[in-house]
Amino acid sequence: MPKRSSFRNRFSFYLLAIGSACGLGNLWRFPYIVGENGGGAFLLLYVFLALTVGMTLLIAELMLGHFTGVSVLAASRKVSIQSKKPIAAFGWLSVIISAVTLAYYSVICGWVLHYLTQFIMSLFQSDSSAYLSHMSVTMLQQNGWLQFMLASVHLLISVVIIVKGLGDGVERWITSLLPVFGLLVVVLLIGSLSLDSTPDVLRFLFYPDFSKLNWNSLGHAVGHVFFTLSLGFGTMVTFGSYFRKDEEHLPTLGLRVTLIDTLISIVAVLLIFPIAFSTTKQPLTDPSLLFEVLPRFLSTYKGGVIFGLTFFLCLWLAALNASLGLLETITANLVEKRPHLKRSVAASISGLAILFVTVFPAFSGSLFKSFKLRGHGLIEIFDSFLINGLLPIAGLGMVIIVTLGLTENDRKELFLHEKSITSQTMYPHWRSALKWVVPAVIVLGLLLQVLGLFFA
Ligand code: TRP
Repeated sequence: MPKRSSFRNRFSFYLLAIGSACGLGNLWRFPYIVGENGGGAFLLLYVFLALTVGMTLLIAELMLGHFTGVSVLAASRKVSIQSKKPIAAFGWLSVIISAVTLAYYSVICGWVLHYLTQFIMSLFQSDSSAYLSHMSVTMLQQNGWLQFMLASVHLLISVVIIVKGLGDGVERWITSLLPVFGLLVVVLLIGSLSLDSTPDVLRFLFYPDFSKLNWNSLGHAVGHVFFTLSLGFGTMVTFGSYFRKDEEHLPTLGLRVTLIDTLISIVAVLLIFPIAFSTTKQPLTDPSLLFEVLPRFLSTYKGGVIFGLTFFLCLWLAALNASLGLLETITANLVEKRPHLKRSVAASISGLAILFVTVFPAFSGSLFKSFKLRGHGLIEIFDSFLINGLLPIAGLGMVIIVTLGLTENDRKELFLHEKSITSQTMYPHWRSALKWVVPAVIVLGLLLQVLGLFFA
């Protein structure tokens, strides 16, 4: 990720924002969340919320960064002092969430690394498809040390890249691989949609049956919107501080990033579900969905091993890019808070602290196996508490910072753009969405989840 001064053109700004939004959240998390919440109706709810709640908050976060020119901690303090309102603490919440998320994210990145190495090893086996068909996430989940080690390797690579200041180069590298990744996804999509199960999948995904929604669905949709658009973490605040108003219009940028991210998520479900429906009775509701379904499907094809290897390599690089975004946010905040701290020291300290938290999700299927709440293991509780609980609260914090910390004039000036006439008409809608709709949806989502604990 570039430092503030090296941020040059508009195109790279887009790549940065899209690169942070698109990651494991789209390809791994979204499909099983859709499965867990019954398909079509949830998908509809999700798309609606992404385009309303998600986009509104995305614009607000970019705005806060652009207005203050600093990362979320310093930004919330700055507007707190300016407006004389006690809102600085919300910045801290975002930074803590970023750190805990990176710990969890690293474990899943570790899974990707594991599959990547398995694909490589299968090249040296006499029967590679038989070898690949034995892979299972359940086995991996039961091996806490292996998960911890893989997550540590991933985290170490991220820390080294940040410490060495290689972010720019690595990012350019990864973005140049994006077309390859896109091509692989399209090929897979065609292969997947030509399976016999496709009509059933289309009915499942596009025929909304609202009776399938439950107490948690709204909260799950809100949480995932925030997770996938990287909202509530302060990342978009940092990106906003790189932003140049003369080059681009903030709301347009927010709209485009939201649309692209949502489209990729829909492609992901269209890709995974036909395969999942046609292979055994794969549960669609489990974090293992992508990992159980894809390699086995690929191993039945000639050339599938090479294809799978490239796919998991691209997936890991995209996830690495997201991890760098998270670690950079934490490091940048730490350095702004403690200017005497060197970047390398700040990144290493953050890495170590995150590694410690990694222990919980990594050992959830082994050491902490007996820890269960309503049949859910520690890793699922971790995911749910973080993404469906804390993250929306951090989002609410952002709404409070932007509505109380900035004046009406500041917001208006940042929103309007002389080249965009529509910004005049859109502004009042955005403002009321930020003030009323976003908080109401977040609070309702949280409330329904709590009620669900008692009534479901
Ligand atoms: N949005 C990313 C994904 O879908 C995950 C993510 C959350 C992220 N917060 C972030 C990435 C902050 C970069 C920076 O996978």
